[in-house]
Amino acid sequence: MVGIGPRRRPSRKGSMTDIPKNLLDQIKEFEDVFTVDRQKLKEVVAHFIKELEKGLSVEGGNIPMNVTWVFGFPNGDEQGTFLALDMGGTNLRVCEIELTEERGEFDITQSKYRIPEELKTGTAEELWEYIADCLQQFIEYHHENEELSNLPLGFTFSYPATQEYIDHGVLQRWTKGFDIEGVEGKDVVPPFEEVLRKRGLPIKTTALINDTTGTLIASAYTDSDMKIGCIFGTGVNAAYMEDAGSIPKIAHLNLPPDTPIAINCEYGAFDNEHVVLPRTKYDIVIDRDSPRPGQQAFEKMTAGLYLGEIYRLALLDVIETKPGLICEKQDVSKLRKPYSLDASFLSAIEEDPFENLQETQELFERVLNLKLVKSELEMCRRLAELIGTRAARLSACGVAAICTKKNIERCHVGADGSVFTKYPHFKARGAQALREILDWPDNEKDKVVIMPAEDGSGVGAALIAALTLKRVKEGNVAGIRDKNSMLKLI
Ligand code: BGC
Repeated sequence: MVGIGPRRRPSRKGSMTDIPKNLLDQIKEFEDVFTVDRQKLKEVVAHFIKELEKGLSVEGGNIPMNVTWVFGFPNGDEQGTFLALDMGGTNLRVCEIELTEERGEFDITQSKYRIPEELKTGTAEELWEYIADCLQQFIEYHHENEELSNLPLGFTFSYPATQEYIDHGVLQRWTKGFDIEGVEGKDVVPPFEEVLRKRGLPIKTTALINDTTGTLIASAYTDSDMKIGCIFGTGVNAAYMEDAGSIPKIAHLNLPPDTPIAINCEYGAFDNEHVVLPRTKYDIVIDRDSPRPGQQAFEKMTAGLYLGEIYRLALLDVIETKPGLICEKQDVSKLRKPYSLDASFLSAIEEDPFENLQETQELFERVLNLKLVKSELEMCRRLAELIGTRAARLSACGVAAICTKKNIERCHVGADGSVFTKYPHFKARGAQALREILDWPDNEKDKVVIMPAEDGSGVGAALIAALTLKRVKEGNVAGIRDKNSMLKLI
């Protein structure tokens, strides 16, 4: 029953007064393990900067710093109609985007499909067939009885891929809980194009891109202060524009040193060696039990896919190691199921507006079949705040590291992803962390502002496809494999 009970006061301090000592001790214990103070944030950023550099070097490192073959930003004159396919961690989206004559404007038509859970651990063939089904449905629905030929496609494939060319990409490893055999280590474009060819779909993959690169380009299309594109969602990552001269691993290409090239950092892999991140025992279990142990260390502490699981493990730990402290004599079987809670569970707790935590109480009962009393609810609320705050503060470290590395004092950062758009207080907590890391004086406004991005995986993919075709037309075919097919699209 919503609507009963006093509304919450802005401060939570008073609400802790009725909590028994042993629960207060537990809260304190959680605060100790999940709090990342300013000093630690700075340490993380210092190491992050070194790791970004290492990723650009010939030897490479944990963070792949993938070269994307996206040379510079759009100028607003890009035009044409493009398909965009967005394969994220949760949904698949097909879009048709018309970049119109007005500078920086576009029209978009789109359909969204939920990626079935079983597909994520199924076979490669099932994956490509499913994607082709979605594309086919979209085209049949929106272009019934039309004679179509040569539709250029920007394919947003949001996983780490090594690209020797923009229309090519070897999957380095699956992330975000995907575990499809036979795809890692191979170019994903040929099997994808093969299913399209078999169905007679007149589509040509013009650019394979990452969601962060798309976010960077789409955001810069409408705001020239945008210097970084970020995703804080099921997974985490960022892209920014680097000078060719600062990328030793492509020195052999002899590009003019000031050539701008977008780098897809893939910094979810930051600190896979576990040097600096303040991991808890829960983070260690998540990694151990994941399909890819030892990988995506930073992502596993900050991304939406894992927040609910961190929370579940922490609660279960209290129940199992401190019998009687919470949920005495209750059936905790639902809480035992891995990944039974997602980030929206924590969001809902943090959003509970009632002083008596009535919505949180209903949520626990509905989802976990657990009846909690007020003091237990207070602990659960604090735990959600701590995990959400830790994610936001650590997320700010990646942005701060790129800004520091590039000597960017002021800029806008385009951000997207479910955690950024939906998780309460994520933006304010991240902004506060940036202030602490970058030492802005109290009386100064934020210099680096993380703000909602344009649709990177749709519009960004279309723009990158447009930029690629423009290059081909101008005879600049660096990083393009299938020039002849591209020429037919122009
Ligand atoms: C992937 C990145 C992607 C990020 C956000 C990570 O798991 O490796 O490619 O940009 O998630 O979607």
